[in-house]
Amino acid sequence: MEQLLESIDPGKVPAHVAIIMDGNGRWAKARGLDRSEGHVEGVNTVRRITEIASEIGVKCLTLYAFSTENWNRPQTEVDALMHLIGIAIERETPDLIKNNVRLTMIGDFGRMPEDARRRLQGCFDATAHCTGLVLNLALSYSGRWDIVEAARRLASEAASGSLSPADIDQVAFAARLSTAHLPAQDPDLLIRTGGDFRVSNFLLWEIAYSEIEVFDKFWPDFSKEDFVRAVAAFQKRERRYGMTSEQVGSSPSRDIQL
Ligand code: IPE
Ligand code: IPE
Ligand code: MG
Repeated sequence: MEQLLESIDPGKVPAHVAIIMDGNGRWAKARGLDRSEGHVEGVNTVRRITEIASEIGVKCLTLYAFSTENWNRPQTEVDALMHLIGIAIERETPDLIKNNVRLTMIGDFGRMPEDARRRLQGCFDATAHCTGLVLNLALSYSGRWDIVEAARRLASEAASGSLSPADIDQVAFAARLSTAHLPAQDPDLLIRTGGDFRVSNFLLWEIAYSEIEVFDKFWPDFSKEDFVRAVAAFQKRERRYGMTSEQVGSSPSRDIQL
């Protein structure tokens, strides 16, 4: 691990890492366990990855924990997951404070069960003063849901006369997305575990130019080393934003305007 960490350039750490934490169910099934056991083990991975992300200087870690579409799973699994999320958040709050981590969320907070809402709100409040890593949970979230919410906000501002339609541009649109509060809105690096090459309705607007790393491993098996490997791979990428290699190479510090 030490050698791996040394291979990281501290000046090029991705500011925002987003993760599609997939494979809990398959991890459990392979061991003859209930799917919910996979989710329990997945929480341990969340703790590990939060630690290492904070350690290497990532500013924001967005974790896809429950999608809008996940409400369609069997009710018993949904209930178990919601219960687990609430319990885990409450249990981890003292450590988050100790590590100066601030918890935030994106998604439909009002759709979460009352008990989970109360525990989440408790953790948002208790960590609001923390100035280190922002741990941002995507809960009852989907990219299309968020885009539609943003469109509705813009429409109501335009209807009330506080916004002119001519002023709606990419900056104005991004400012109405639920990710607008993050220290870096667009993920530099998107990681997916569980081996599937798809985005499953995650951060559709924000991943326009994210670098993507897919791991075959299931989320409960994802290690700190794997995370650092993903960051190391990210640092080797050339981000061209539609330009030529010569253009970005000649001006590495150029501010890219999307
Ligand atoms: C990811 O693991 C966690 C959630 C979606 C809540 P899954 O539960 O999707 O596990 P697999 O993909 O079925 O193995
Ligand atoms: C993506 O995993 C959502 C989360 C990790 C919360 P899914 O298991 O829901 O995605 P699909 O169904 O494989 O696309
Ligand atoms: Mg899955």
